[in-house]
Amino acid sequence: MNILVTGGAGYIGSHVVEELQKSGFIPIVYDNFSTGHAAAVPEDVQLVEGDIHNTVFAKHIMEQFGIDAVIHFAASSLVGESMENPANYYFNNVEGSLHLLEAMREVGVDKIVFSSTAAVYGEPENVPITENSKVQPTNVYGHSKLMIERMLADYDMAYDMHYVALRYFNAAGASFSCDIGEDHSPETHLIPLILKTAQGVRKHVSIFGTDYPTNDGTCVRDYIHVCDLAVAHILALEHLLKGGTSRVYNLGSENGLSVQEIIKSAKKMTNVDFPVVEEQRRPGDPAVLIASSDKIRQELGWMPAQSNIETIIGTAWRWYQAHPRGYEN
Ligand code: UFG
Repeated sequence: MNILVTGGAGYIGSHVVEELQKSGFIPIVYDNFSTGHAAAVPEDVQLVEGDIHNTVFAKHIMEQFGIDAVIHFAASSLVGESMENPANYYFNNVEGSLHLLEAMREVGVDKIVFSSTAAVYGEPENVPITENSKVQPTNVYGHSKLMIERMLADYDMAYDMHYVALRYFNAAGASFSCDIGEDHSPETHLIPLILKTAQGVRKHVSIFGTDYPTNDGTCVRDYIHVCDLAVAHILALEHLLKGGTSRVYNLGSENGLSVQEIIKSAKKMTNVDFPVVEEQRRPGDPAVLIASSDKIRQELGWMPAQSNIETIIGTAWRWYQAHPRGYEN
């Protein structure tokens, strides 16, 4: 089966490409390299430089490679940036996805796994968060992803295009192969920033807020290993290929860890007592985000096997040690 992976040169996309190969699928990566890295794609994978806005080219590629289904990652994904430049997010994410869906519809590709986010829930009323919780994004990034979920539901209703939308909580960790990992520029995520500080590349780790209503006053998140996320994409794809109907699933470990707890684990695992500075809250951060992933466990048999904090930090640390300058070296 030939699977088009938009954004397959990005962090989560490249881990899904690795898992697709392991599972016997043939991934074709479609990426404009605005944030992705060609070096994140194995040499034996077909790599196409293309933009999701280019419907004509996307159609041509889908036909040329006899694409059976699409996994769609290509997107802008920085929460802070989305508030400063909403136009980019509506253009890249919403309009880009519309063009991709149109290309699929015109060539008759009717299955798509979509990379969504826990940001669709905004500040949750209750935790753990189930798929039935109220969706009320507090940032443009979350709004853009929710609008795409809406488009998918409408394409299903009108054109029988089936989808699985996967709402990720905090993706972290790196492949056990150590060949691929997280390399964002700028980096904004907690675990990479901590490990770069442990390496001496950054001077200190900032804790954004110590007055949250949590046990130690710092924000609690649900960290999920990127390889567990990758496996969920294969299960979602197989569900659609078997004729399954459209679904929305949360992907989290169901385990909450505070910023302080992550720092403590990282100090222990790296054996580096790096400097930490307490700062003001970062605007828009909810105090606690923890998933219920019961639905995908029950329906598709997904089991996050690698999402304990030791494995998450251990694999990420190995990646940064082997690639101190990310994909540059
Ligand atoms: N944090 C710090 N210091 C830092 C960076 C982060 O204290 O230098 C804190 C944040 O305040 C937050 C936690 O660490 O409480 C995790 O922050 P990240 O930036 O790593 O991740 P977020 O929870 O903000 O974002 C993640 C995904 C987004 C998604 C969002 C859903 O990366 O794509 O969850 O709410 F939109």
